[in-house]
Amino acid sequence: MLRVENLTKIFRTGFLGKGEEIIAVNEVSFLLRKGEILSLIGESGSGKTTVARLILKLLRPTSGHIYYKDTDIWDIPSKTYWRKIQAIFQDPYASFNSFYKVDRILKNVFKLFPDKISEEEKDRKIYEVLERIGLDPKEVLGKHPFELSGGQMQRLLLARCLIIDPEVIIADEPTSMIDASMRVILLNILKELSNKAGKSIIFITHDISQAFYVSDRVLVMYRGRIVESDSVEHILFSPQHPYTKRLISDVPKLHEKFKFTLT
Ligand SMILES: Nc1ncnc2c1ncn2[C@@H]1O[C@H](COP(=O)(O)OP(=O)(O)O)[C@@H](O)[C@H]1O
Ligand SMILES: [Mg+2]
Repeated sequence: MLRVENLTKIFRTGFLGKGEEIIAVNEVSFLLRKGEILSLIGESGSGKTTVARLILKLLRPTSGHIYYKDTDIWDIPSKTYWRKIQAIFQDPYASFNSFYKVDRILKNVFKLFPDKISEEEKDRKIYEVLERIGLDPKEVLGKHPFELSGGQMQRLLLARCLIIDPEVIIADEPTSMIDASMRVILLNILKELSNKAGKSIIFITHDISQAFYVSDRVLVMYRGRIVESDSVEHILFSPQHPYTKRLISDVPKLHEKFKFTLT
């Protein structure tokens, strides 16, 4: 679905960009296959969100390319592209216009669709999706984003994602504001989207146990580079890179947890 080749993003800070250079993403390459969940793990500041923003065409790369089904994403009209690729972000408040109420925000989603959709059809779809992810439509639809909790907002982003029904979903720390019980529900929805609906998902997290719970393959990112990429089993039982070993040793109960999720 996606092919990322030698992707590099350098930020220049300071007045007129004359300050320090930050190499946020450094020669990153990977493939995202149809129907798989690929986890991108790494500590804060390792470049994960920058990769997500580059894939979403929210940032131009300094060098390198991203191909969606063999076409460079910068050759695809944004509106067409965003029907195919959607994101659930770490900071959900930044993703919505606070001026509108939730029902308006969700209805605006349909503007991405080329066909005319009736108001009843929109309402039906919105109710269906909200109920599926455990949000009470009557409770949230009349509210503004700032009246909702962080967890409700993250689920609202998932709702938007489900309405658009893209082929690729980028989930950037989607559970950071959600409490533990809801977290499993959201992770299970992602798994279901990949297993049953064939969606390709990039799951970004600093929490290695969540990565293992949802993914097929894991990319380990460290200081802008991908230092290791392998199946969940290999990363867990024979990590190669020192940073990966450290990540895994940080979670002493992980092996137990992993066995538990397999049974
Ligand atoms: N717009 C920006 N301008 C300057 N530096 C940035 C910008 N966005 C991110 N960075 C820097 O790039 C690095 C990677 O950030 P980020 O991709 O957000 O990491 P992560 O999501 O893994 O925490 C960090 O050092 C961060 O400070
Ligand atoms: Mg981030």
